[in-house]
Amino acid sequence: MKNFCLIGKPISKSLSPNIHNSSFIYNKIEGIYTAFEVNEEKLEEAISSLVALDYKGFNVTIPFKEKIFKYLNKVDESAVNVNAVNTVKIINGELTGYNTDYLGFIYTLNERNIKIKNEDVCIIGSGGASKAIAFACANMEPKKITILNRTRKRAEILKIEINEKFKNINVDIYTNNDITNFEKYKLIINCTSVGMEPNTNISPIEIKKANCSSTFYDIIYKPRKTKFLLDASLFGCQTINGIDMLIYQALLSEEIWLNKKLKISDIKKYLLVGDKIGI
Ligand code: ATR
Repeated sequence: MKNFCLIGKPISKSLSPNIHNSSFIYNKIEGIYTAFEVNEEKLEEAISSLVALDYKGFNVTIPFKEKIFKYLNKVDESAVNVNAVNTVKIINGELTGYNTDYLGFIYTLNERNIKIKNEDVCIIGSGGASKAIAFACANMEPKKITILNRTRKRAEILKIEINEKFKNINVDIYTNNDITNFEKYKLIINCTSVGMEPNTNISPIEIKKANCSSTFYDIIYKPRKTKFLLDASLFGCQTINGIDMLIYQALLSEEIWLNKKLKISDIKKYLLVGDKIGI
């Protein structure tokens, strides 16, 4: 039996155990995935314990995505790119860090054939999720990245971080109310928690104009159609919710741990039929 887990704090609402254990059943993998709430001062001990207990890998969530770096032996490019790790693989006591949040976002765009090279992209929010997504977008060489944030200060910090890594990417910053016409953006992504249950009647932006060939992407998965996505649908735009990224980051972690390609689209269907994830 192979053991895997999530470490973070808080973890009580995490859907990761449901996703992974259901995926293990689907793929006939003898694995168990659990979640452990870990206090920061016990992080090192917790990691040593996982190694001692022969865990094959684990996921890392808030507040350890950056703090984990000093315990790793190697860091994959996916994690270097966003300076955050959400997946660790253990081989013979050696720990390698990856970032499948970042890879999961790219996977979603590729699966739907959404290409943003030389296109305008708009990112709403400037927190940890925005950073991973902004870096993934920057890697795809858009014409410009526009960051909308409630407070300008945090958007300025994100702009600096993007330009430290991607010197040639043009980044504009505005506050949320500054833009209501989204026609020029090929992809608009909500990376804030605005509109999440139970506050489903709010959106981080007001959409007065949008182009029907644009895609609006919300990282929220509860509700499945946020006000942000409902508003965009009125203009005939394609919409994507956060379920894909949630599932893909998990399955891409499994591919890394198990060192094998999984039938990701088939597993996603299996997980969503009868809602095995518990969304
Ligand atoms: P995470 O790291 O998970 O992305 P976060 O660091 O709390 O979470 O970031 C949340 C983002 O949502 C931030 O950009 C935040 O805006 P501020 O930088 O101004 O704090 C944004 N956000 C949160 N609540 C918001 C609200 N009610 N209206 C608009 N933006 C909001």
